[in-house]
Amino acid sequence: MSVARENVEAAPSATIEDYYHEGREFPPSEEVRERALIADRSLYEAADADWEGFWATQAAALDWFEPWKTVCEWELPFAKWFNGGKLNVSYNCLDRHVLAGNGGRVAYYWEGEPGDQRVITYAELLDEVQRFANALKGLGVTKGDRVAIYMPMIPEIVVAMLACARIGAPHSVVFGGFSPDALRDRINDASAKVLVTADGGWRRGAVVPLFENAAPILSDTRSIEHVVVVQRTGDGDVPLMQPGRDHFWHDLVLEADAECPPEPMDSEDLLYLLYTSGTTAKPKGIMHTTGGYLTQVAFSHRYVFDLHPDTDVYWCAADCGWVTGHSYIVYGPLANGCSSVMYEGTPDFPSKDRWWEIAERYRVTTLYTAPTAIRTFIKWGSEYPRAHDLSALRLLGSVGEPINPEAWVWYWEHIGGGRCPVVDTWWQTETGAILVAPLPGVTSLKPGSATFPLPGIGAEVVDDAGNRVERGGGYFTLTRPWPAMLRGIYGDPERYRETYWSRFPGRYFAGDGAKVDEDGYLWFVGRVDDVMNVSGHRISTTEVESALVDHPSVAEAAVVGAKDETTGQGIVAFVTLRGGMQVDASDKHGRELRDHVAQRIGPIARPKVVIFTDELPKTRSGKIMRRLLRDVAEGRDLGDTTTLADVGVVDEIRRRAEASPTED
Ligand code: WTA
Repeated sequence: MSVARENVEAAPSATIEDYYHEGREFPPSEEVRERALIADRSLYEAADADWEGFWATQAAALDWFEPWKTVCEWELPFAKWFNGGKLNVSYNCLDRHVLAGNGGRVAYYWEGEPGDQRVITYAELLDEVQRFANALKGLGVTKGDRVAIYMPMIPEIVVAMLACARIGAPHSVVFGGFSPDALRDRINDASAKVLVTADGGWRRGAVVPLFENAAPILSDTRSIEHVVVVQRTGDGDVPLMQPGRDHFWHDLVLEADAECPPEPMDSEDLLYLLYTSGTTAKPKGIMHTTGGYLTQVAFSHRYVFDLHPDTDVYWCAADCGWVTGHSYIVYGPLANGCSSVMYEGTPDFPSKDRWWEIAERYRVTTLYTAPTAIRTFIKWGSEYPRAHDLSALRLLGSVGEPINPEAWVWYWEHIGGGRCPVVDTWWQTETGAILVAPLPGVTSLKPGSATFPLPGIGAEVVDDAGNRVERGGGYFTLTRPWPAMLRGIYGDPERYRETYWSRFPGRYFAGDGAKVDEDGYLWFVGRVDDVMNVSGHRISTTEVESALVDHPSVAEAAVVGAKDETTGQGIVAFVTLRGGMQVDASDKHGRELRDHVAQRIGPIARPKVVIFTDELPKTRSGKIMRRLLRDVAEGRDLGDTTTLADVGVVDEIRRRAEASPTED
């Protein structure tokens, strides 16, 4: 059962006025310019003069086994980049650096939540990847087979991803915080043959038993033939492991050959699937391919973070379960041969200065995180970073949601010591790579603005009718293909066309509102569709509604994202209960419904509040008035409700909303 939807609605969660009050501008300092790879407009000029030629130059920085025949073939909305070329992603990320004599360079300084540490060089990583690639082959995985990965942030997740890339088996990483149900749906959609997981991962001092959680859903999957289990938290005794089907990672690699030649892949061969939430209940398997993707993640990682691979220590504090982890923990940094920090746990374990302790220990130069983390640090207080030597830092990045100027300025002052450019980077799972961001040696920064499209990117803000907006607000669109763009939705080409290319003919639109200021700077203002952004995580209102109505007590549900000081948005659910059920609209039942959603989708989707109501506000044609519900949830004046069928409903809902307890 599902509820009626409204059309896309231009009601972004923030307005440009929220941002403008900061007013200050931050041009690159002399010091920043001096060490910058690029301190002039040459990249923009080269891209403007010949954008395809520009991308070809970037692609040529990779190692190709065979050259491409065409740079870009564009049959709207389907693109092929560097078609005819052959390369291997793991070769570019590993062998290439080892062959160049950089095998001794550190690939990852890894730190587990309990405090265990590992330093892994490029040569060691190559060795582990080859062995695990052979282990996968031994389980019957061949080129084109999909491999699901459901793991904590341990080095083996990177090894597993690269081993898949080495043998041409697309991976589908499922965030370890997703529920087993969510894992099952993704495994089934991709028909994954093998699942790689772990006995558990550490989270705030406790073990999350990944394998044990996942084991029951395996009988609901038609395709899984084998499961590989990394022993991370236990002593080897893992309940529910089935002999023959399930294997320990350490046993497999012990028996595996040390050498595994990289499979030459076509530039357009599938590298991975990554599921993301859209405006319907079913997550979309976003397809990323090989040559264009690697070209653009390497390019953007190098120039946006002004990378100096031999001296930088780069830390992207995301999880490999999200696209940020794919592009900017694994593929971009490794393609560029840089040294990264990788951390398993939460920022407040064992204490609230864990990140700063790590940053000090490894002399981190570059930190990439989300505004929600920054706002949490602000709440905790500046004494935590102040207690540590962060003087090695020279660049800070932000991703995942609009960064409010207060958070930007705090990040700049308290983490960056007033000397590190803050690069706000806009992109999406679908774009594969950063598309809008400053170049630190070139761009004068405005706190809260992601500034300008990167060189080679065609972007415009348009109005409802699709006309370009030179100054003011509208919809953010892309006007031409880019190398790392999604190649489609797995198994559903029509949905790809419909979702991204139909709202504005000839343009890509994936749901963000943006404004252009008088200097041409871009200010992203949030989603204008039914996708919420909670702590930088994309969550579909429909998905949460479906989880709610699948509880036997729920008749109808409407979910909105309401502004939240720390998490950006919080999930607020309006629920009507079925008549005749033996449940009432109690706090206890509200808690049960929140738990139910967390169990269905994952803890990140747990509503902050459930508001019970006898009716949902609907237009006379029966559509739920979500704008109105958002206004109620955010405590705003309700404005015009004349299209409402029953005006009394709103007063009732407001009264109940005020009385409903909120979960932190
Ligand atoms: C939002 C994360 C404002 C946006 C890489 C987008 C941002 C969605 C920014 C994609 C930013 C991401 N400023 N909004 N710098 N970065 N977003 O697929 O709404 O998890 O559509 O990819 O996050 O989320 P996704």
